[in-house]
Amino acid sequence: MCSPLIKKIKETEIKAAESFKSASSPEELEATRITFLGSKGLFAELMKNLGSLRKEERPAAGSAANAARQITAEAHQLAKERLAKFVTNRNNWLDVTLPGRQLRRGHSHIISRTATEICSIFGNLGFSIVVGPEVETNYYNFEALNFPPDHPARDMQDTLFVSTDLLLRTHTSSMQVRTMEKNPPPVWVVVPGKTYRRDSDISHSPMFHQVEGLAVDKGLTFSDLKGVLTAFVTTIFTPDTKIRLRPSFFPFTEPSAEVDIACVLCGGHGCRLCKGTGWLEILGSGMVDPAVYGFVNYDPDQVSGFAFGLGIERIAMLKYGLDNIRMLFESDLRFLTQF
Ligand code: PHE
Repeated sequence: MCSPLIKKIKETEIKAAESFKSASSPEELEATRITFLGSKGLFAELMKNLGSLRKEERPAAGSAANAARQITAEAHQLAKERLAKFVTNRNNWLDVTLPGRQLRRGHSHIISRTATEICSIFGNLGFSIVVGPEVETNYYNFEALNFPPDHPARDMQDTLFVSTDLLLRTHTSSMQVRTMEKNPPPVWVVVPGKTYRRDSDISHSPMFHQVEGLAVDKGLTFSDLKGVLTAFVTTIFTPDTKIRLRPSFFPFTEPSAEVDIACVLCGGHGCRLCKGTGWLEILGSGMVDPAVYGFVNYDPDQVSGFAFGLGIERIAMLKYGLDNIRMLFESDLRFLTQF
């Protein structure tokens, strides 16, 4: 049979052990120590109570109290060590010796890069950049560019109409008249942007990008056009890239020329890419047809000019050796990160 005091001593020891075990911070540990082991703590109280016991009960209760206090002091020591480790870990959460997590850096899309490169070449030749609407009126896309009303390019086969009068521009030439309307000559501009046609195969996409060029100034001739295009082609491809101009037709230029470059793959001998011809068509061009000046009050006796339009995808595909235009629009990172 043990006395009620000894029972109380045991209970206090158990409670203390639990409290020290569950202490989760140094502050909580210290509060627990004061509660049990402090000079006014529970054990000090129990010790005081020893005096009220009968003489023969005192030795047993006394040694029980000493043992319990000893055990509690050890429990405190253990908890202290446990928390010390915890605090060290908490303060060392940043391990500066670990290798860093690498940030994945992106870069501009190959189309944007090619557009920037094209525009900067023309920028160095004195052209400014202008941009315009992708949803365009019949007037700026066709009419003011001297397209007759029954021209096949206006047909539903090619043009994506939004309404009878609105369409998705089929070329960036739509900015020619918009630019000349707003600015008196001289005008030297390039127009990068999206264009749309109902066309889809390995080298055509319904949405594609063009850069238009327009220069109207005093005394510009076909030689200026050829000089500018030669400078462009020898910069974007290689310095020895040959060009060839073939007679062509556009309603808004006269005379007009398709511009070919010597095949980038075979150098002109003939291969699969150039279909055995040795030449690759890269853009359409010509001298601005005086009929167009009629829409903007430019005097054809005072000024003359040239225009050209090239496909950005076409240039990118030739430059980087791509054989399918889709790759440019699929956003497949395995492909895109190669550039
Ligand atoms: N806009 C024409 C096309 O998309 C290209 C071009 C532009 C031709 C300027 C002549 C002058 O095919």
